[in-house]
Amino acid sequence: MTYTARLRVWRGDATGGASADYEVEANEGEVVLDVLHRLQATQTPDLAVRWNCKAGKCGSCSAEINGRPRLLCMTRMSVFDPAEVLTVTPMRAFPVIRDLVTDVSFNYAKAREIPSFTPPADLAPGEYRMQQIDVERSQEFRKCIECYLCQDTCHVVRDHEENKPAFAGPRYLMRVAELEMHPLDVADRVPEMQDEHGLGLCNITKCCTDVCPEGIKITDNALIPMKERVADRRYDPLVWLGRTISRR
Ligand code: SF4
Ligand code: F3S
Ligand code: FES
Repeated sequence: MTYTARLRVWRGDATGGASADYEVEANEGEVVLDVLHRLQATQTPDLAVRWNCKAGKCGSCSAEINGRPRLLCMTRMSVFDPAEVLTVTPMRAFPVIRDLVTDVSFNYAKAREIPSFTPPADLAPGEYRMQQIDVERSQEFRKCIECYLCQDTCHVVRDHEENKPAFAGPRYLMRVAELEMHPLDVADRVPEMQDEHGLGLCNITKCCTDVCPEGIKITDNALIPMKERVADRRYDPLVWLGRTISRR
C-alpha cells in the first residue's frame, strides 16, 4: 500500500524553532526513518536526522514520535493510522543541536563517573572460569545499545534540568548494577550508588523499562535489586546493633 503520510517535524536549533508540516509518500513495510529520508531527498535536503545502522543496533536515531521516545529506524509506519499526523521531535531531555539531532554528551559524562571494571589485583588471565548462570544478569545489561531513550524518558531529568548533576539516569545506574553483579568485580559501588549516582531519586516509575528497545528489564533487574542492596547496608540489624553499641 502506498499512501501520503502527514508529518509534523520539529525544525530549528539551539536558539529555537517550530514544527513544520509535510506530506510525504509512504510505502508498505517502511519505518519512520524511511519516510524522513524521503522527505530529506525530495523536499528538505537540510533536515538533520542522525542515524547509522538502520537495524536498531547503533542507538543513533533516537527521537520522539507523538511524544514517545522511540528509535526512528525500528518504528514501523504501520503502527500508526495513515490518516493521523505524526509528530516527530528531538529527544526532550537533551539540548538540540539541529532539527532531530540532540547533544547527548550528558550521557558520556555520566559514563565516565562510574568506576571501571575491577577484577582482583592478583588474578592472572585465564585463572578464573565463570558459569553462564553467574553472568546472565550482567549479560542482559550488556545488550544496551546506548540509545538513551531511557535517559530521555525518565521524569527525574526530563523536566528537571536541575537534577542532572545528581542523577546518572537508568542507563548508568544499570551500569553500576552490571558491575556490582559481575562475579569477578571486587570494587564496592554501593555506598556511592544512592547519593553520588542518584539512585535515591528513582521512584520506580518503570518508564525507562517501557521504552527500552532491547527489552532490558532495567527497573526490575537492575534498579530494584540495587535499592535492596542499599537498604540492606543501611538497615542490616547487625550493622544497626554495632552502631547502637558504639554510640553508648
Ligand atoms: Fe537504550 Fe535500553 Fe540502553 Fe537505555 S538501557 S540506553 S533504553 S538500550
Ligand atoms: Fe526513572 Fe526508570 Fe526510575 S524511569 S524513576 S529510572 S524506574
Ligand atoms: Fe541505528 Fe536506528 S539507525 S539504531
